[in-house]
This record gives sequence, structure tokens and C-alpha cells, in this order.
Amino acid sequence: MSDQTMAGRTVLVTGASDGIGAETARVLASRGATVHVTGRSAEKLRPVAEAVGTEPLVADFARLDDVRRLAAQVGERVETLDLLMNNAGGTFKPSRTTHDGHEPNFQINHLAPFLLTNLLRPRLAAADGALVVNTSSIGNLMGKVVLDDLDYEHRRAIEFPAYGTGKLMNILFTRGIAQRWADEGIVSVAVHPGPVGSSFGRDSWFVGLLYRSPLKRFGTISVPDGAAPLIALAERGPDPELNGRYYSRFHADGRENRQASDQSLIDGLWQRSAELVELG
Ligand SMILES: NC(=O)c1ccc[n+]([C@@H]2O[C@H](COP(=O)([O-])OP(=O)(O)OC[C@H]3O[C@@H](n4cnc5c(N)ncnc54)[C@H](OP(=O)(O)O)[C@@H]3O)[C@@H](O)[C@H]2O)c1
Repeated sequence: MSDQTMAGRTVLVTGASDGIGAETARVLASRGATVHVTGRSAEKLRPVAEAVGTEPLVADFARLDDVRRLAAQVGERVETLDLLMNNAGGTFKPSRTTHDGHEPNFQINHLAPFLLTNLLRPRLAAADGALVVNTSSIGNLMGKVVLDDLDYEHRRAIEFPAYGTGKLMNILFTRGIAQRWADEGIVSVAVHPGPVGSSFGRDSWFVGLLYRSPLKRFGTISVPDGAAPLIALAERGPDPELNGRYYSRFHADGRENRQASDQSLIDGLWQRSAELVELG
């Protein structure tokens, strides 16, 4: 019988159909949390949903209307949300623009979780202290945010740097939340899980080359090891010490892009993202 460190807490995990999201959902449920899971495939989510004792919530983050519907469904299910694990993401071919016409690394890694988190803000604020955990990446070091060209209309998008930019945005968004919602008891933290031998890179020919090759065994850690830092943060809960920080696995203040603490980018990205998703 495992300890019940998460008893009484309500959690939503995105990207819960696979990899570290699925593992995090299972472990948090086994430690007593009420866990809700979302992913883009009902079929793939089902075993995880069954394991944690819930019905799958299906939303494709390449469709912002799906994200709006997801937020409404979560709102119907829960009065309060103690923990939001914004974990869905990956690398995507830039030319495959989303349903909403955005560059996919930008929308799936940043814009969709930005919208979801904002829509769930009342439920987070209603909890007795809430934590938002954003799964970022060491790939943030390769990113570059250009505020007036978030969708790569005036430069060429290259897949891995575009992914890194999305993961850099996760840190900027974490800081945006920390600066805006602390009065409501909402704490936010970003985390790099490590190089995890998950299904990461499945949508990418280039990244998949490494993650699907026999080399994967040597360069990556296991999915449970990759999920462990997320679970540790979840168990810690809305500790103000975490607010706005970027963890590299278990270590605070991981290596981050110089842009990650640029106040004009924290504010500018927030404002531009709110316009793009038409937040009132
Ligand atoms: N693996 C690594 O080395 C590594 C390193 C640093 C950061 N990360 C980050 O860790 C997070 C989890 O990745 P992972 O390693 O566990 O990879 P994974 O096994 O590929 O899991 C990614 C999850 O995101 C979901 N997802 C992808 N596109 C989506 C979309 N359009 N709409 C909704 N959900 C979508 C996937 O759904 P499906 O099951 O339907 O594909 C899956 O549940 C990601 O944000 C990733 O960027 C991973």
C-alpha cells in the first residue's frame, strides 16, 4: 500500500495518453489524488483513464475549440482544481499548420495550454492554493521568441528550434502566471524532465530518428524516471518558493535561455497570446 500524499487533491493532467503524462497520472492517482486525464485520442487514453478511475477527456491541442470544450467539461466536473499539469507537447513539422492556422510547435506547446490555463483560472483560484506545472525542456536553450512573428510568417520555421521556442514560452508563461495570479493563491513552476525514452518525437521525422533508434537506450532515462520530477513538484503543491521558477529535473534554476527572464517578453507574449485566443 503506497502512501496517500495526494489525498484530497484534484488534478488535471494533459498529454496523459502516453509517456510521462500517463505515468504521472497513474502515480498521483495511486497516491490518493482525484485525477482527470486528457489527450487527443479517446482510444489511447482509455487504459490510463481506467487505471485512474475516470472517463477520458478528448481534446486535440491543434484545435483551439477543442481546448475551449475541454475547459468547459473540466468546469462541469470539478468545483476546484488543485493541480494543473500542462504536459502535452512535442515536436511537430512546422509546415503542418494547425486547424487554427498557427505553426504547430507554437500552438500545441504554448498557445493551447495558455488558453486552457486561463479558462481554468477560476477553478484554480477556487482551490485552497493551486499549482500549475508546465512541462518545459532543456530545448528552451535553442528557442528564440520573436513577438511580432510568433507564427513564422516572416522567417523560416525549423522544427527543433521551433519546439525549443515553444518550451521557452512555457517558462515565460510560468513567470507570467507567477506575476499575475499570486494574489489568487495560484503558484506556477516549469520543469525539464530529462531526456526521456518515451514516444517523444513520434510526430517528427528528425527527432524520431534519435528517439526511435537503438541509441535511445544509451541517451535516455526511463519514463518513470522522467515523470519523477513532475510528481515531486505535484506533491510539494503550491509552495510560494516554487513560483515562477524553472527546474531541471529536481534542481531549481535550471539552465535557461537569456530570453526567459526578459520582462518585455513575459508581458508581450502574454498579451499577444491573449489576443490570438481572443481572451476577453
Ligand atoms: N521525452 C523527452 O526527452 C522530453 C524532454 C523534455 C521535455 N519533454 C516534454 O515532456 C512532455 C511529455 O512528453 P513525453 O516525453 O511524455 O512524450 P510523449 O510520450 O510523446 O507524450 C506526449 C503527450 O502529449 C500528447 N499530445 C501531443 N500532441 C498533442 C495534441 N495535438 N493535442 C493533445 N495532446 C497532444 C500526446 O498525445 P498522443 O498520445 O495522442 O500522441 C501524449 O499524450 C512534452 O511536453 C515534451 O515536450 C520531453
